[in-house]
Amino acid sequence: MSRIAYVNGQYVPHRDASVHIEDRGYQFADGVYEVVTVTGGRMIDEEGHLDRLWRSLNELRMAPPMKRAPLKMVMREVIRQNGIRDGIIYLQVTRGVAPRDHPFPKNTPSSLVMTAKRLSMAKAAKTAEQGVSVITVPDIRWTRRDIKSVSLLPNVLAKQEAKDRGAYEAFQVDDDGMVTEGSSTNAWIVTKEGRIVTRPTSNSILAGITRASLIRELEKNDIEIELRSFSVEELLDAKEVFLTSSTSYVLPVVKVDDQVIGNGHPGIVSQKLRSIYENFMAGEV
Ligand code: PDD
Repeated sequence: MSRIAYVNGQYVPHRDASVHIEDRGYQFADGVYEVVTVTGGRMIDEEGHLDRLWRSLNELRMAPPMKRAPLKMVMREVIRQNGIRDGIIYLQVTRGVAPRDHPFPKNTPSSLVMTAKRLSMAKAAKTAEQGVSVITVPDIRWTRRDIKSVSLLPNVLAKQEAKDRGAYEAFQVDDDGMVTEGSSTNAWIVTKEGRIVTRPTSNSILAGITRASLIRELEKNDIEIELRSFSVEELLDAKEVFLTSSTSYVLPVVKVDDQVIGNGHPGIVSQKLRSIYENFMAGEV
């Protein structure tokens, strides 16, 4: 089945999908995006992702490209036309096409692009079974990380550094030595005392949808969590480390920089939380 993209009202072959060179996403990174997991042909946390998309748009004073109900229909159609059972759908909204000038253009409709791709659940399960390594890098981003902006250059540099050093992800560290989040994931630790810790939402991190769902599921299971920042020292000294995102779900981390975490294998708590999250996903389908 050949891939199909949605570009401003049209379903087109993926290889021919394009936008104008004066799209403000291209020239100013003036746009926002969402990545939604698809499992068994159904979207996970669709409402949460759309709420966050609307919030990002609102924060940037950008008009939604269409109302929520038709947008959901387009998302379903992109999944259907691409025959996605397990994978992701990517949505991007930019402030549209206009002659290059920094202020917002007048009467310019926003641009909407969607793509979808398959992901191998078997490969994801194998990665989770082995655990991954992360590195730490300085957080050099702007102060509105709560907005899911396509302006991702610091994230790209962080992820490339991780790749160059043979790691899966880079955890970013603020000027106070506290971990903010991964380049495309939220960061968590389990302390030596068994406390599950993740940073509270603020402008310093993206409010991950996976993070929010995991917190809700843990509350349902009477598992306590501590919403607070943690330092690099605590990270290196943690009993367990894991990360969350729409593409990684709950993923155990077994090495940070050169420090082996626990016994170098996914910890019991991380594995349990991954299975709690998998049960939640199964319930959504
Ligand atoms: N990234 N933090 C950052 C900086 C992110 O970019 C993401 C998601 C997350 C996790 O959020 P969620 O659980 O809603 O996926 C946290 C997506 C997957 C990406 O950029 O591809």
